Amino acid sequence: MDPKDIVYVNGTFVPRADARVSVEDRGFVFGDGVYEVLRVVNGRLFATRFHNDRLERSLDGVRITLKGGDSPARFVEIGKQLLRENDLTRGEATLYIQVTRGATTRAHQFPPPDIAPTVYISVARFSPYTEFAQTGASAISHPDLRWGRCDLKTLNLLPNVLAAQTAKERGAFEAMLIRDGVVTEGTRTNFFGVVKGSLRTHPRDSHILPGITRLVLRDLARDLSIELDETPISVAEIPKLTELFLTGTTTDVMPVVRLDDKPVGTGKPGELTRRLQRVLAESLASGSD
Ligand code: PDD
Repeated sequence: MDPKDIVYVNGTFVPRADARVSVEDRGFVFGDGVYEVLRVVNGRLFATRFHNDRLERSLDGVRITLKGGDSPARFVEIGKQLLRENDLTRGEATLYIQVTRGATTRAHQFPPPDIAPTVYISVARFSPYTEFAQTGASAISHPDLRWGRCDLKTLNLLPNVLAAQTAKERGAFEAMLIRDGVVTEGTRTNFFGVVKGSLRTHPRDSHILPGITRLVLRDLARDLSIELDETPISVAEIPKLTELFLTGTTTDVMPVVRLDDKPVGTGKPGELTRRLQRVLAESLASGSD
């Protein structure tokens, strides 16, 4: 635990141990809420505008209306204050923002309009997976059991939790989710692969979360004149993968060198993966906003 452990809940800054939300909170009872995770390097938030836009889309998508002048931009300002109060303006950290539909007597339908959303914001020290980034990690394939709006970053993460745990129990870092015969994404990452020399990833649609790292990497690849084909990788193509990596706010570009206990390509991080890993690291270090 960080020496000062201050979080923000519904308008107040409090020590984490004293932070309280109601047992009737709809986030607790229904998983009825949305969230964001941002990366912070030396006090600078990465890709803030993209995260704010996504939070806006998630809120709209589940029809949660913020109140009292709250907005994603305001949450980011609160996040910056938390970083200062928790002495996290140097080194690596993450910012977590969660908004639920508020607390009220349990009923599936929305609460009355006077019930305000619950807002919880916290920051934490973060250690990047530097070793896996070098050696590469392993993954398993797993059925994608999620709903039809995976593009919204909601708190309902049970299929992700179960798949992540299965991966862990099989000694793997991540589960690669398969729906309708194609790779969608990971439990907390997006997947990219190289098939016959071409860099591929699932297109942006309701079956994946439009990852911010995925988006940043797409722009970085374009700058390097690396073509990205947004055609999903089919299950039949998995044995033909010469490179595989995942992307995410807390994983950066992570090579995947073993899939379902078989080597991917040479069994070492691929050349394209390495290049993209480098450019993302440079972008993170330069504090691109
Ligand atoms: N997860 N896909 C899913 C299902 C995710 O939950 C995430 C992020 C990503 C990658 O998105 P981004 O590049 O914006 O982090 C893809 C966060 C980190 C989490 O749940 O902790």
